[in-house]
Amino acid sequence: MKEQLEKIKQEALAALAAAKESSDLETLRVKYLGKKGELTAVLKQMGKLSAEERPVIGQLANDVRERLTAEIEAQKAKLEQVKLEARLKAEAVDVTIPGREKKLGHRHPMYIALEEIKDIFVGMGFTILDGPEVELAYYNFDRLNAEEGHPSRDWSDTFYFDEDSRVMLRSQTTPMQVRAMETMELPIRIIAPGRVYRKDEVDATHSPMFHQVEGMVIDKNVTMADLKGTLNAVMEQLYGEGTKTRFRPHHFPFTEPSCEMDVQCHKCGGVGCPTCKGEGWIEVLGAGMIHPKVLEMSGIDPEEYSGWAFGMGLERMAMRRFKISDLRLIFENDVRFLEQF
Ligand code: DAH
Repeated sequence: MKEQLEKIKQEALAALAAAKESSDLETLRVKYLGKKGELTAVLKQMGKLSAEERPVIGQLANDVRERLTAEIEAQKAKLEQVKLEARLKAEAVDVTIPGREKKLGHRHPMYIALEEIKDIFVGMGFTILDGPEVELAYYNFDRLNAEEGHPSRDWSDTFYFDEDSRVMLRSQTTPMQVRAMETMELPIRIIAPGRVYRKDEVDATHSPMFHQVEGMVIDKNVTMADLKGTLNAVMEQLYGEGTKTRFRPHHFPFTEPSCEMDVQCHKCGGVGCPTCKGEGWIEVLGAGMIHPKVLEMSGIDPEEYSGWAFGMGLERMAMRRFKISDLRLIFENDVRFLEQF
């Protein structure tokens, strides 16, 4: 029996030393030390031994059990250590490798200019409105005193969705005036920036989609002097003190009187150059006193209230702000251009 125990011990130790996985160790533990294991099988025969032999063999069996148990534990720890080391190696991070550069985007120059414009108007107590680009001709034209047959309603100028010319891509942000009059309490002070669409070919100053910032004030005793004073103050804040503007008479169906406002050219200082097409001035907006008919159509009494309004070309404002010479640069999205702002 002694030899049997010795044999089990040697075999088990060899098998344990060769184990590669902790699951192997468990199999071996069952095989040698389990209830139906080899060691147990030997111990079951203890009854056959003499009284002198029994404690000796018993002691020996215990020693073997202890030795194997300890060996299993030791082997287990070893395998775990090996596994851990392999994992650490696999997951090792080389902190000396240079990081991958993430390119940060930034705001488009036109939107930088828009933010500045918004800030200035908000500072003057204006509210910013947003409205639909798919608009009803009713708001874009009818309610703005541009009746059936008005040249701006022509199919050659406007993107319509239907044969009856009732739904369209707005050709101006001016319908936002009507929407504001319909929904807001008087007095009203709003600006409404957004995209507008016209059937224009792309060139240095035209694009079928461009941006306007609409503005409107309705209150008692509002005059043309308020319009000029406000817009001059805005231009000085945006373009610097002493910025020169001029107002020229014009015609719009929804204002009376109407005007256009020019800002002195940044390139030539008013002498005349290619940027301002030799004019010395750059047209940036249309404006005027809101036509009494337009107020009336929105249920506002023109005897009690008056208002002024404007629609500025945002691209032009941004070009003047950042001294950009060609409109196409605004839309091409060439990063070499955009990165300069
Ligand atoms: N909507 C006009 C345009 O697109 C610009 C304009 C002119 C807007 C006069 C106004 C205004 O609010 O009062 O040409």
